[in-house]
Amino acid sequence: MARKKRIGLLTGGGDCPGLNAAIRAVTKTAIPAGYEVIGIRNGWQGLLDNQTVILDRVNTSGIIDRGGTILGTSRVSPLKIENGPQRVFDRMEELGLEAVVVLGGEGTLSVSSKMFQMGLPVIGIPKTIDNDVKGTDFTIGFQTAVQIATDALDRLRSTAESHHRVMLLEVMGRYTGWIATYAGMANGADAILIPEIPLDKARVDELCQMLALRNKRGAFFSVVVVAEGTVLEGKVVEAFKADTAAGDEVSRLGGIASVLGDIIQRQTGLETRVSSLGYVQRGGTPVAYDRSLATAFGVKAVRLAEEKKYGMMTALRGKRIAAVPLHEAENKVKTIDLSVYRVAAVFFG
Ligand code: F6P
Repeated sequence: MARKKRIGLLTGGGDCPGLNAAIRAVTKTAIPAGYEVIGIRNGWQGLLDNQTVILDRVNTSGIIDRGGTILGTSRVSPLKIENGPQRVFDRMEELGLEAVVVLGGEGTLSVSSKMFQMGLPVIGIPKTIDNDVKGTDFTIGFQTAVQIATDALDRLRSTAESHHRVMLLEVMGRYTGWIATYAGMANGADAILIPEIPLDKARVDELCQMLALRNKRGAFFSVVVVAEGTVLEGKVVEAFKADTAAGDEVSRLGGIASVLGDIIQRQTGLETRVSSLGYVQRGGTPVAYDRSLATAFGVKAVRLAEEKKYGMMTALRGKRIAAVPLHEAENKVKTIDLSVYRVAAVFFG
């Protein structure tokens, strides 16, 4: 009997809500299309080390609403490992994989693009809470993170009001302000601080004046959302430097809210408190939008595989699920659309 054609599937980089919905969609679309689906554990690491699991209708049922990734993930890049690309090609052959579908953010998709240029038959699906992948309007996981951040801001507003305080919430987003802007707009935040608009001394003074003025006006509380990558006087605030499994030193963003909170309290005399949302915004159940986007992306990825359209990534363009070349996402960061920010800014102060 002829062996079935096989397709691999891996999740790389930071996890996000909606990954399991995409894993389900790829598997349940690929099986009727005649594929055997090989789940690769822990991102590229699993392809280097041969950690795999056969995905079927049973083990991908009932996971559409589950957070995280049943496959596990890692930030390992074959490009940073000796003979990494060759090891990937060898495993692909041993496993009999016709192609591999990679669910990744900007980092993982950049690696995929480079591996495609080396000959790997790969199809990308963009996912990250940060929504910083070029070529697609939205990534899987973004809307859930926005909802979680909005809920947190709503809660902070009520306690800010009771205690007549300034509340600062730090959200993720790496070097972009997508989560901060969308959540801040949904909450009606009094200020939104993002990496795309660096803070120099004049801007910090302006922010403090605005908060003091609100207080004078009789609005005795304020809610401010700040993206972790916001640049203050030319620098981002780093929580610490860490080593990846691939041996690179990477910076973990974090701490801008504390630094700014101190400045605000000192300059305005207003009682100020800070919170950092951290990994809460990456975990748990995906909202309906992310489940639907993940499902549409999963189906599209399999169609691309059937047509052997490798080196492509699924993308949302307006209302359309499209395919764009992976290199559109390679080593680029999609910053916030400032026209969206300007809408949120109408309500500042
Ligand atoms: O890219 C997703 C993200 O959650 C960023 O928002 C954040 O800066 C980063 O990952 C944290 O990375 P790690 O999971 O390696 O701590």
